[in-house]
Amino acid sequence: MLIHLICAARPNFMKVAPLYHALKQEAWAAPIIVHTGQHYDLNMSDAFFQDLGLPEPQTHLGVGSGTHAEQTGKVMMTYEKVLFKDFPDLVIVVGDVNSTAACTLAASKVFYPRDKANKIRTPDRRFEPSDGAQAYQPSPMSYKLAHRPIIAHLEAGLRSFDRTMPEEINRIVTDALADILWTPSPDADENLLREGVPPDKIHRVGNIMIDSLEMLRESIESQTSYKELELSPGQYGVVTLHRPSNVDNAETLTLLTGLLEGISHEVPLVFPIHPRTKKNLERCGLLPSLNHCNGLRLLEPLNYIRFMNLVFNCRFAMTDSGGIQEETTYLGIPCLTLRENTERPITITQGTNHLCRVEDLEDKVAEILNGPRPEAKKIDLWDGKTAKRIVESLKKLLGA
Ligand code: UD1
Repeated sequence: MLIHLICAARPNFMKVAPLYHALKQEAWAAPIIVHTGQHYDLNMSDAFFQDLGLPEPQTHLGVGSGTHAEQTGKVMMTYEKVLFKDFPDLVIVVGDVNSTAACTLAASKVFYPRDKANKIRTPDRRFEPSDGAQAYQPSPMSYKLAHRPIIAHLEAGLRSFDRTMPEEINRIVTDALADILWTPSPDADENLLREGVPPDKIHRVGNIMIDSLEMLRESIESQTSYKELELSPGQYGVVTLHRPSNVDNAETLTLLTGLLEGISHEVPLVFPIHPRTKKNLERCGLLPSLNHCNGLRLLEPLNYIRFMNLVFNCRFAMTDSGGIQEETTYLGIPCLTLRENTERPITITQGTNHLCRVEDLEDKVAEILNGPRPEAKKIDLWDGKTAKRIVESLKKLLGA
């Protein structure tokens, strides 16, 4: 069974890796990695492949940056060609980036050509099951969809209910079209059911990000990133910012950086800067004063293991990232999320995450510094075994 695993941008790699490794163990599965090229800098892409033990992507679409429509359109056009070259049986998309929605749209609309015997005219498959492997027996589901690949969405059902976020549009489009919806938490199941999704499409498998964290725990713990930065464990904060709502507007960005400077006089902060944020800091002339701020360590984007070492050892995180809300909850680290909403409410109701308005940031940091350290929270199915559950779910659904 030929499986395309689509990855595109930094947070996708941690979701694809555990599944790729798990599928590689299965005789019936031939997983191949398709990289759309949405993220392309060495430290936004290749460094993650290395850390996560992923091979070079077998297919690279080289799409790069652009406006939303340009990027989505380019991914659709290039990926459609790959679909007609590989004829995958299954396309797995992850998360909520533009490439996730674009590949889902492209795969939904392909119509595989058939020969006179009504068989799909596949080209010579480049990835045959190895000798002795069980031949793939198509299931009723794959017969029904024989004109196109089955599409599965990993991290389905998350909703911020804020359609000003491009990611929310991507989530809605992807979930509306995908055939199999793998969810991380009960709220995601409820969102999908409320939208009228048939229950038999929804499969709660847990949080795949935790699989990557557990897979690399030893390497993360033996890293010395925080020491190299002369930071002491439990005595500094990690900052990440990249959402357009925080970094694209000059006024908001100026306010935020002023606050970070102030907070860094109280507690050291380490801030790996996303390329979008760096561009905007440069455009607004904010970099020089940040650079001169003693308590603030500005860094280039970091690879997964080094970054997670900083998170493991920090006192708190300030972020607008989705993944960091989940990782800090799992590790029991307070997280201030600089957003008005989150598509991951379980990190608030059961975890250590707090939504924080920019104007409340200083007070919230003081509360954390003066308060007790929270305990690590156990959330059902956030246990490092999500990839295994997905493989089992596939075996059942596809008769593999
Ligand atoms: C994208 C995702 C977002 C995800 C984030 C993680 C969408 C709509 N957004 O946002 O959901 O949380 O990735 O990082 O899909 N750039 C580089 N080098 C790179 C990649 C980007 O310099 O390797 C710069 C380019 O100037 C680009 C800008 O960053 O225009 C933004 O990149 P883009 O992929 O469009 O969006 P992100 O903000 O990274």
